[in-house]
Amino acid sequence: MQEQPENDLETYQDEALATLALATDEKGIEAWYRKHLAPSGTMNQWRKRIGAQPAEQRKAFGARVNTAATALATAFETQKRAVAALELERSIARQSVDVTLPGRSLTSGGYHPVTTIIREVERVFHEMGFLTFESPHAELDEFNFELLNMPADHPARDMQDTFYLSDRTVLRTHTSAGQVRAMRIYAPHPVRVILPGLCYRHENITLRSEIQFHQIEGLLVGKSVRLSDLKGVLLSFARKMFGREQRIRMRGSYFPFTEPSVEVDIRCTLCGGAGCRVCKHSGWLELLGAGLVHPVVLANGGYDPREVRGIAFGMGIERMVMLLHGIDDIRHFFQNDLRFLRQFRS
Ligand code: DAH
Repeated sequence: MQEQPENDLETYQDEALATLALATDEKGIEAWYRKHLAPSGTMNQWRKRIGAQPAEQRKAFGARVNTAATALATAFETQKRAVAALELERSIARQSVDVTLPGRSLTSGGYHPVTTIIREVERVFHEMGFLTFESPHAELDEFNFELLNMPADHPARDMQDTFYLSDRTVLRTHTSAGQVRAMRIYAPHPVRVILPGLCYRHENITLRSEIQFHQIEGLLVGKSVRLSDLKGVLLSFARKMFGREQRIRMRGSYFPFTEPSVEVDIRCTLCGGAGCRVCKHSGWLELLGAGLVHPVVLANGGYDPREVRGIAFGMGIERMVMLLHGIDDIRHFFQNDLRFLRQFRS
């Protein structure tokens, strides 16, 4: 029997195939390829030895090297596909849903605290039979001042307080501007409305004052309306809004469009009347301005002041939210800072 040169070729082939079967991940299979089939690998070492064989054995040895190379390459391709499938399975296992994990919460918006309070105030007055009446933000000077008994030289008309859009139009400085508009729609019939909305004043922006803020106005006109109705309506409102035990107090005041005029205080919502920093140790918080509608205003609204009387009141909403939540800077309301707004999400 002719002696086979390089007998260990077949041994090498068997060993290489055996180690390939052990390569079960991507790293292992790559390492195996580098060792055996890559240009610098062992298989090429065998090829190089073909030329070194004696001439008569060269052809047969070359054929054996090719057979071995083909066997390794075929086995490698098969193993590579098997490993790829395995790796895919592993990665699916890694990505699969763990149903025991806590869910991701959806972010949802919430109402601005001013919107929430306006709606609450509206609900309370709607229950008492008031309707919501809207009037323009860009208002005639006439309705904002003149017809409310504020003649041209009145200090409240000072250029510094009012945004003038033209000689005759302003951005309303208070919701009282809608009073005469409402009366002219209802007169000579009774009127019972609230007027919520933004107001504007040409002021320096500080902790306590903004150039825009919300008010809610109330207006009730009828034959038998009296000052005690004002007290009754406002006491009911205060109790529904701030608690059943709430008390109110009226102090004499002055507004051009009411006579008499009062300012209404409620018991401090933070200390209950004991005295604290927010109520400046008085036990009371100023809530709104109010009064009996001035006869001149009633007449401007189309009523006969000898026949009917009216009560009116107006409150600042931001101020009320500040008192309810202990907020000390009115500027928060218009900055759209989510850290502030998120505190009111319900
Ligand atoms: N309009 C007043 C203001 O902006 C508030 C006010 C006071 C409204 C008395 C009224 C009222 O209806 O009767 O400060």
